[in-house]
Amino acid sequence: MAADTLTITDNRTGKLYEVPITDDTIRALDLRQIKVKDDDFGMMTYDPAFMNTAACRSAITYIDGDRGLLRYRGYPIEQIADKATFLEVAYLLFEGELPNQAQLDKWTQDIRYHTYVHTNLIKFLEGYRYDAHPMGMLLGIVGGLSTFYPDAKDIEDPQNRYIQRIRLMAKLPTLAAFLFRHSRGLPYEFPRNDLDYIGNYVNMMFSIGGKHEPNPVLQRALEILLILHADHEQNCSTSAVRAVGSSGVDPFSAVSAGIAALYGPLHGGANEAVLRMLDDIGSKDRIPAFIDSVKAGHGRLMGFGHRVYKSYDPRAKLIKKVADDVFAQTGLNKKLEIALELERIALSDEYFIKRKLYPNVDFYSGLIYQAMGYPTDYFTVIFAIGRLPGWLAQWEEMINDKEQKIARPRQIYTGHDERPYVPREKRK
Ligand code: CMC
Repeated sequence: MAADTLTITDNRTGKLYEVPITDDTIRALDLRQIKVKDDDFGMMTYDPAFMNTAACRSAITYIDGDRGLLRYRGYPIEQIADKATFLEVAYLLFEGELPNQAQLDKWTQDIRYHTYVHTNLIKFLEGYRYDAHPMGMLLGIVGGLSTFYPDAKDIEDPQNRYIQRIRLMAKLPTLAAFLFRHSRGLPYEFPRNDLDYIGNYVNMMFSIGGKHEPNPVLQRALEILLILHADHEQNCSTSAVRAVGSSGVDPFSAVSAGIAALYGPLHGGANEAVLRMLDDIGSKDRIPAFIDSVKAGHGRLMGFGHRVYKSYDPRAKLIKKVADDVFAQTGLNKKLEIALELERIALSDEYFIKRKLYPNVDFYSGLIYQAMGYPTDYFTVIFAIGRLPGWLAQWEEMINDKEQKIARPRQIYTGHDERPYVPREKRK
């Protein structure tokens, strides 16, 4: 019997099956041979929420949730966040290697030339009400981009995919800033290509009458936050991009699906939910009662817990340092004091210790965004700008993976057996 195999005994039939093991994994399709009768469908695995199912092979991001490790293309997140720019990280995720100076110059320049959006998109944006949620606007307008670039449908051509990647990287910050200004009723500030990626975005957000005084500490803090969000392997939104992209649709539509997934409060929407939770708590003396209500099953401690990390999220550690830099500029606020106390109490509480619930990336990011001047319902838009390189790199990897086909899970049917149609007058 080969060593790298798994032997399965089907106790229904007494038959033995030998299934190959590769990378500590068996192929679900190898189980299909396990049948009681020849005309059976064969055995499947049941894994709601993909708790233990690998859906792809990926060389982009490595996470060890027990040890709190995160690496992009092999580089530890701590080193990347300390040294790299966001565009370098995006290049690394796409190409697999850090760019040399010439490669970085070309990459930066290509993006710089595509920051403008078609002015019809402004009319599109104006159709939204002033109080529309920014993530709702973003997912609609990014999906709408596919109609402006029908050439993006040619997903088989690598050069074409490169152009769409550049367009998305260049235009997402512009659209993100435009929808903020739409919400505020402010005139749109057009891209300034003499500024760098972050500087241009911040300028489009906050410039009034063509004037904005950049704060280099806050801009670098924002850049680090984008880097920390850039990829996180097969999370909910990335899986959405891959699943929707597997149908062969253009990347604008696939990314729009990723934005929709990110919108949810259990995913990217958690940073917004944390701030709302801190508002609800209101003061430090109300924290114990809040913790008790969470433990009694009334709601969750937002910004805590993670499907993969069962120790401190390494991004949360780095974010705490960013928070120090930002608050040194902007001053402390009451919510931060509540958050620090909440974290202290939760980390020493049996309920959270037993379930290995630690702060995740979203626990402090919202507080930082707020201190920088972003409104609460806008936080997840910044997460989307950060996550875009990850979505696109994973989409590209999927397109090039010969094993991938249209994503189409199986089900265990639990409904009725065949039964005759009941005419309307005979229904109860
Ligand atoms: N507060 C209180 N209890 C929690 C929390 C929490 N934040 N998270 C998990 N639990 C409990 C849960 O009730 C369950 O307890 P029990 O075993 O008694 O039923 C146990 O811990 C396991 O939870 P789970 O729901 O099975 O874990 P999951 O892996 O399905 O959920 C999660 C992961 C991130 C959705 C969840 O921890 C959560 O809802 N956290 C709050 C939302 C949040 O901060 N999300 C951001 C995630 S990081 C950024 C991102 O990915 O976008």
